[in-house]
Amino acid sequence: MGESYKIIPFNREYRDQVIDLWNAVFNYETAHNDPSVIIRKKEDFGDDLFFMAAAGSREVIGSVMAGYDGHRGWIYSLAVSPRHRRKGIGRALMRHAEESLSALGCMKINLQIMEGNEGVESFYRDLGYTTEKRISMGKRITENIP
Ligand SMILES: CC(C)(COP(=O)(O)OP(=O)(O)OC[C@H]1O[C@@H](n2cnc3c(N)ncnc32)[C@H](O)[C@@H]1OP(=O)(O)O)[C@@H](O)C(=O)NCCC(=O)NCCS
Repeated sequence: MGESYKIIPFNREYRDQVIDLWNAVFNYETAHNDPSVIIRKKEDFGDDLFFMAAAGSREVIGSVMAGYDGHRGWIYSLAVSPRHRRKGIGRALMRHAEESLSALGCMKINLQIMEGNEGVESFYRDLGYTTEKRISMGKRITENIP
């Protein structure tokens, strides 16, 4: 069924492909969301919680970033290339990220869905996520934003 792919750890040789994927999939308009900055910082951080789906001869067709802070696990920026959707790759990336967080002892995984992207809620619901009533807040640390 379909072409084969593997879920593999992010590697810098794929950096440009992942940046292209994010630029194609997400509407990042702010400097602190610049894919090249985020990816470089994650690489430098070195927690090995960044994964890609790679097909055939090193083609990046999906990625997911996770984080663990000793308390919660987080999922960020799950993306599958539009040409490869509805083949189970998003689900496989999520499972892989979840297993990696679980192996670190993580007891709960959170994620956020941006306004306007509510359609993806059922995807996560099928994977066991429930919608929790929260007010999500954030603050930019401007001196760290290029
Ligand atoms: C969300 C996303 C990662 C899903 O990737 P995918 O590889 O197509 O997902 P899967 O094939 O693993 O889907 C598994 C199941 O989830 C559900 N699903 C997937 N995409 C869906 C959609 N857009 N709407 C409703 N259900 C969906 C389906 O039940 C699907 O199973 P089916 O194809 O047998 O019906 C992909 O659509 C994407 O990159 N979207 C844009 C970026 C994005 O919104 N990321 C999430 C940010 S919070």
